[in-house]
Amino acid sequence: MDLLTKITTKSARIGIIGLGYVGLPLLSAFHRAGFNCLGFDIDPAKIEALHRGENYLQHLGESLVRDMKSAGRFDATADFSRLAEADAIIICVPTPLGRHREPDLSFIQQTTDEIARRLRPGQLIVLESTTYPGTTRQIVLPALESRGLKCGTDFFLAFSPEREDPGRKDESTQTIPKLVGGIDDRSGQISVALYQSAIRQVIPVASAEIAEAAKLLENIYRAVNIALVNEMKMVLTAMGIDIWQVIAAAATKPFGFQPFYPGPGLGGHCIPIDPFYLTWKAQEVGMPTRFIELAGEINHNMPDYVIQRTTLALNDRGKAVNGCKILILGLAYKPDIDDVRESPSFVLIERLTQLGAAVEYNDPHVPATHRMRNHDLQMTSVALTAQSLRNYDCVIIATDHSAYDFQMIADNAALIIDTRGVMCRVICKRDHIVSA
Ligand SMILES: NC(=O)c1ccc[n+]([C@@H]2O[C@H](COP(=O)([O-])OP(=O)(O)OC[C@H]3O[C@@H](n4cnc5c(N)ncnc54)[C@H](O)[C@@H]3O)[C@@H](O)[C@H]2O)c1
Repeated sequence: MDLLTKITTKSARIGIIGLGYVGLPLLSAFHRAGFNCLGFDIDPAKIEALHRGENYLQHLGESLVRDMKSAGRFDATADFSRLAEADAIIICVPTPLGRHREPDLSFIQQTTDEIARRLRPGQLIVLESTTYPGTTRQIVLPALESRGLKCGTDFFLAFSPEREDPGRKDESTQTIPKLVGGIDDRSGQISVALYQSAIRQVIPVASAEIAEAAKLLENIYRAVNIALVNEMKMVLTAMGIDIWQVIAAAATKPFGFQPFYPGPGLGGHCIPIDPFYLTWKAQEVGMPTRFIELAGEINHNMPDYVIQRTTLALNDRGKAVNGCKILILGLAYKPDIDDVRESPSFVLIERLTQLGAAVEYNDPHVPATHRMRNHDLQMTSVALTAQSLRNYDCVIIATDHSAYDFQMIADNAALIIDTRGVMCRVICKRDHIVSA
């Protein structure tokens, strides 16, 4: 049976490499569509959890893995020799930045080498990891063809960007339209058929490069617009004007304006990182990327702005940061999830600690910190009660988790630094609330 027939009859086996925020929901989408799914990851803790039927990503719901396990047609492994069992292999591994803000493609390269060693005729490989235009053709394709099989006839290769937004309730992997660009026409057709069998709307584009660049445009658009409102926040705050009320007012325009919201800095695996994949690649064609660099500079400096506002507010009360007790509310980079990657809260904690403050945090979704690429903090979330709040000189609202009772916080904290504009939503006396 050829691959297209296997896909349309759902007898194809789907292998997903990298079972994180992107890979696990994608595996679940194919499983729900009726496919037999095999997940691969190098993290043995994840594989063990999946074998026990446990989901390690809170926001996907407790029953996600249990349901797959009880339905069957699902296995997970760290044994890459099993790649030959899959008819379609989708790569969802990390694409971070290196120490000098250069793309770190080592995860993609490692994974591609694993696949190349077992590649067999009739397989489809799709890269989903966000990366610069040209990665699929210039890096993945030569590695896969290195043992003699030809793309477009022996095997097939495409890029399809993930548009996952962890924690979002109104959209899911199945409902978010999916771009697909093949390395050649046949690869494009087969990968479109694959995604159409699990995802509501699939949009074929003319090449893998268009799909790669479209993903970067989406994320750069967000990074630039977030930088713009962050700059507007700093300007308007200096004028005594509330940026959040300004955005709410502007957002009443039915066309030509999309609201973006300021914050203490960027977080997550996408917006702080992906734009710099393009700035790096743009050097190859001698093109400057001034918008992206400027947006990066503004967004990167936002934690310093928050610290400056905190310092001034404490000073107004006759206090110094040095020796103060400060509580950070929210370690996750956005509401109602446990994702702390690139979270500006870590920068706030580290810098305030360096300035001599005793810093603690509360996050209902993050009971303890763990070692990460750029931060190594050993902390646990402290209690958040009316009484505990009175122990702090200052409370910084870094994330507006819906579990937070902001009225209670406003009633009990001595000083609040509000980076999310939440306090204008609660009725309270405002002289101890500082927008930052
Ligand atoms: N998180 C998001 O919201 C999001 C959205 C869109 C696109 N993306 C992109 O998707 C890709 C994956 O992101 P993520 O958020 O799922 O990352 P993640 O860190 O949550 O998951 C990646 C997984 O890959 C595993 N892994 C690492 N190296 C591996 C290897 N060599 N072989 C097998 N598994 C390996 C890790 O153990 C981890 O479980 C990135 O390129 C990211 O930019 C992420």
